[in-house]
Amino acid sequence: MRHLAFRSPLGGWPVGSITQAWIASFSQILASAAALLLSASASAQDLPGEGRRLDLVGVDLTQDEIASGSVSLREIRRQGQLVFSVPFSKADGYGDGPGVGPDATSPGARPTLQGNGTFLRVNGLGAQSCLECHSIVSHRSVPATFGVGGVGAAVSNAIFQPLHIDPLDGSFDGRFINPPFLFGSGGIQLLAREMTLALWERAAAAEANPDVPVALETHGVNFGTIVYESASGDFDRSGIEGIDDDLVVRPFGRKGEFHTVRDFDLAALAFHFGIEPVEVVGPGVDGDDDGVADEISVGAVSALEIFNTTLAPPVQTKLDSVARAGKSLFDVAGCSECHIPFLETRGRILEYRLPEESFEAEVFYSVDLSRSPVKFANASKNSVRVSLFADLKRHDMGPELAENFGSELDAFFTTARLWGIWDTAPYLHDGRATTLVEAIMAHGGEARPARDDFAAFTDTEKTQLLTYLATLRTPTNATRSLR
Ligand code: HEC
Ligand code: HEC
Repeated sequence: MRHLAFRSPLGGWPVGSITQAWIASFSQILASAAALLLSASASAQDLPGEGRRLDLVGVDLTQDEIASGSVSLREIRRQGQLVFSVPFSKADGYGDGPGVGPDATSPGARPTLQGNGTFLRVNGLGAQSCLECHSIVSHRSVPATFGVGGVGAAVSNAIFQPLHIDPLDGSFDGRFINPPFLFGSGGIQLLAREMTLALWERAAAAEANPDVPVALETHGVNFGTIVYESASGDFDRSGIEGIDDDLVVRPFGRKGEFHTVRDFDLAALAFHFGIEPVEVVGPGVDGDDDGVADEISVGAVSALEIFNTTLAPPVQTKLDSVARAGKSLFDVAGCSECHIPFLETRGRILEYRLPEESFEAEVFYSVDLSRSPVKFANASKNSVRVSLFADLKRHDMGPELAENFGSELDAFFTTARLWGIWDTAPYLHDGRATTLVEAIMAHGGEARPARDDFAAFTDTEKTQLLTYLATLRTPTNATRSLR
């Protein structure tokens, strides 16, 4: 089985008849070319516009400064927006160094197009900035509206770890993934954290009460059951639904692989740019041998994470009578079983920890999601309503939507969050659907009955449903306060 994370256990790069020996000598040539380039760029550091772009645009916040509370949230977000938008250069450590690691599909050892050291797109090194792929706020308006943190069109799709592509017959065994937007992701992260802790409590309850199945239900979402077997002295996890056996809710990534935005950000820096964060490789370490150490500081990544998770959520416009009829049809067809209109948190404070995946690590910063600039609606005095239209679970979507990656998760996708959906064509994980009706009609597997109900609707009913979906809009001002 191939991994879904940003590395592959498979070595090699079967490009036509190029042999491994070829690749080896090729990478030696590359190494000397890269060394030449590096020495050239080193002396170019002082020329106008050359040198580290992160420094040139003024990203200088340290982790200590952020943790001390002495810097305003606005300034942290402003610098985070710069990290998100800056076109990384070779002086920042863009790209892979010569021949690090044996695996040509992993960051550190990837080939580039004709060995030029930059973009191949297949398997990463696909852009200079995050913004290039996350930049469309509305694809409904014509011309499109652009902004920081939006979706990407098909041209920005990530082409993840294919080992075989044949343009002549269209065969492809990697993952072709369309970029979602990052609006409202702080609410998703808070939900994922609260839900995980609640599910762990359910598991502890099961352990305290052996041989009795316990419902894994929290925040209105049902993740199946778990039972602690006294005979084996272990959990029977076969009843867990829609998440991994460790009961960690991972809403980020279309396959549901990342628990926090920071985890995703770190992987994105490595995959798209070959940028090695200090918190991954260590201070002073040039992990990919490209002549640059300390490629991006812990503080800069924290600013990036805080920026990403404080983007305002999508909005819903007022429902007229047609949209209201569509809302009931959304329930009738069973769409809302997976696309649950809203989930409510138990708290309203999003806490940031390092390492982020740790639940014990000290909180270094926190943000109130009910207040500006994020402003989720209050559910109660101390909780917020996240109108995501999803359940943060994975579902089997049937053979037609399935990927061809050789993973047991090929047919599974995390329920797409429908908030903002009117603005975000193209649709589905690979952007294959150019309209909403195409997207709905492509539902299979667990969603087949809902799709069939939709197909059986009259044109009037379909219009009502689409009018309802048309109320789901992206935020128009997610970064206005930073301008
Ligand atoms: C080449 C295009 C491209 C670039 C550049 C890019 N992304 Fe993405 N981004 C994607 C795609 C495609 C996905 C969906 C990936 C998946 O589901 O596995 C994604 C998903 C994400 C997600 C998860 C969103 C969610 O709700 O699941 C985050 C967070 C993210 N990107 C942050 C970043 C950051 C930060 C950068 C810059 C360091 C960046 N991206 C650069 C294409 C890109
Ligand atoms: C069994 C769970 C399930 C049901 C029921 C379901 N969906 Fe989905 N829906 C998903 C998943 C999972 C995806 C993501 C599929 C993909 O990315 O390929 C999705 C994707 C979508 C998308 C595309 C979103 C995007 O951003 O690309 C739309 C639109 C959509 N669903 C609408 C509906 C409607 C309308 C109904 C009812 C007729 C419905 N869904 C029923 C699970 C479900």
